[in-house]
Amino acid sequence: MKIGLIVVRFFFMLLVIFNPNVQQTAKAFTGTYGINYGRIADNIPSPDKVVKLLRAAKIKNVRIYDAEPSVLNAFKGTGLELVVGLPNGFVKEMSANADHALNWVKDNVKAFLPDTRIVGIAVGNEVLGGSDNELEVALLNAVKNIYNATKKLGISGVQISTAHSQAVFADSFPPSYCVFKDGVAQLMKPLLEFFSKIGSPFCLNAYPFLAYTYNPDKIDINYALFEPTKGIVDNRTHLHYDNLLDAQIDAAYAALEDAGFSNMEVIVTETGWASDGDENEPAATPSNARTYNYNLRKRLAKRKGTPLRPKKMLKAYIFALFNEYQKTGQSSERNFGLFKADGSISYDIGFSGLQDVSAASSLSSLKGIRAQAYYLTVIAITTSISVLLSRL
Ligand SMILES: *[C@@H]1O[C@H](CO)[C@@H](O)[C@H](O)[C@H]1NC(C)=O
Ligand SMILES: *[C@@H]1O[C@H](CO)[C@@H](O)[C@H](O)[C@H]1NC(C)=O
Repeated sequence: MKIGLIVVRFFFMLLVIFNPNVQQTAKAFTGTYGINYGRIADNIPSPDKVVKLLRAAKIKNVRIYDAEPSVLNAFKGTGLELVVGLPNGFVKEMSANADHALNWVKDNVKAFLPDTRIVGIAVGNEVLGGSDNELEVALLNAVKNIYNATKKLGISGVQISTAHSQAVFADSFPPSYCVFKDGVAQLMKPLLEFFSKIGSPFCLNAYPFLAYTYNPDKIDINYALFEPTKGIVDNRTHLHYDNLLDAQIDAAYAALEDAGFSNMEVIVTETGWASDGDENEPAATPSNARTYNYNLRKRLAKRKGTPLRPKKMLKAYIFALFNEYQKTGQSSERNFGLFKADGSISYDIGFSGLQDVSAASSLSSLKGIRAQAYYLTVIAITTSISVLLSRL
């Protein structure tokens, strides 16, 4: 009996170990770590220098917020995988006019394929739950027109999506109680229906930094920073969470399940921590930003799912590549960069800046840890096989 169970478990583990692709449903993502390359600053490095920086950091998945030709040209032949953005300012036009959508895709995507590896188009950013109702209503048809345009142009392998802020949720604590807000739900459901038909994931911009900044008395900062705490237990699922990002993602899964889309994958299209902020953003420090981004990198390198969706490997694009001093709003907005405008690192999480591309990257040490874990598992399995055999 017991041995039978062990043997079954052993074969199950083999299945999991030797079939790593089984959970990779989001086509627009290689591995687990990506970055947002925002360019709201006139002092950041040129796109070709950015390509050098990304290659040195071994970051392959990149999102931009538009389809700037100088960036698309610089990415030609690099193998870097790019998600381009249709800015919110174009969403109403693309929604109202299928021909304009066709031309936009022709000029901004088709013209650069296949040399520039465009793997996705993000239609608008954080539209739902925002303040422009006309824009919210226009989103679905813009998504459909852009999708139809790719089909008409014979483009394949380009995933259509749109990223949501956490403002689409009514309440996200405990995670399993999360649902879409009234008012958002009516617009969200047909959008999800379409995305589920075309196999696109739910794209979430998730910020433990903001949750902590707005609720410093309710949230332990160590929990938000992936540092050791006793965590929280969801009182409905009894699942244990040791960090806030995992809880935020499972809240999104819970809302999707409530809306009838329990199979849809959540990918994190933005997450990060500001290294400087206003007086009312005291958690925005270089030390906290470093801790969050360092621990996040380790979390992603584990290639694990969340407590509610343990088989859906967590994938995230970090916000952001550079500090962008021309952004408006709170000071934190201008200080999310892993790199300063001159290309030097904002703080050390193992990446080297442009000044110092030869410095050893700790990605290799992260890879080392993963390889070690892998070999330990293999050793554990072979040991249990020999124990089993010796008992037979
Ligand atoms: C997209 O194309 C499909 C099939 O060709 C068509 O049925 C649908 O009406 C089109 N949608 C839009 C929004 O144009
Ligand atoms: C779980 O916690 C929430 C919020 O604290 C509360 O509203 C809810 O009633 C609790 N549910 C159970 C099953 O205890």
